[in-house]
Amino acid sequence: MQMHIDKYERMWLTAVVVVLGIFFASLVAGVAIFGVRPAAQAGVINPMYLEQSEFASENLGVRHMGGNQYEARILAQKWAFVPAEITVPEGAEVTFIVTSRDVTHGFMVEHTTVNMELVPGHISQARTTFHHPGEFKILCHEYCGRGHQLMHSTIIVEDVINTALNEE
Ligand code: CUA
Repeated sequence: MQMHIDKYERMWLTAVVVVLGIFFASLVAGVAIFGVRPAAQAGVINPMYLEQSEFASENLGVRHMGGNQYEARILAQKWAFVPAEITVPEGAEVTFIVTSRDVTHGFMVEHTTVNMELVPGHISQARTTFHHPGEFKILCHEYCGRGHQLMHSTIIVEDVINTALNEE
């Protein structure tokens, strides 16, 4: 017995398949021919071997690179950023170098232009300067499972002058 498909039904089905085919082909062409990669991507990494990489536990956190330059190496995983808190002085220009251990996460620093997608296997990088002291949240803004809304960490930007005075 042959299934009867209405003429218009068939037309629309064909149109849908053609459109999906075009989308898929452009996706493949984007990656293979035009080299499209996740935004802010700064390299690739095998998420299975993070402990043997620049993202090993002891390498996570803030590193002073001289002057007002800082590097913050952060690992995203279900459902936290590691480390949960980092501290930099006021005026610090911070380069965030981030990857995901498991699924796709988001990485957004409130009140800055830092806004990245973290795709497992890729390293994402973005830079910003903290001109004012205060607390800034890093938020995961891509749905990543049932703990998504709990996934955040804190950047503390220290008031350098007042901190120095208090220590005297
Ligand atoms: Cu991680 Cu949402």
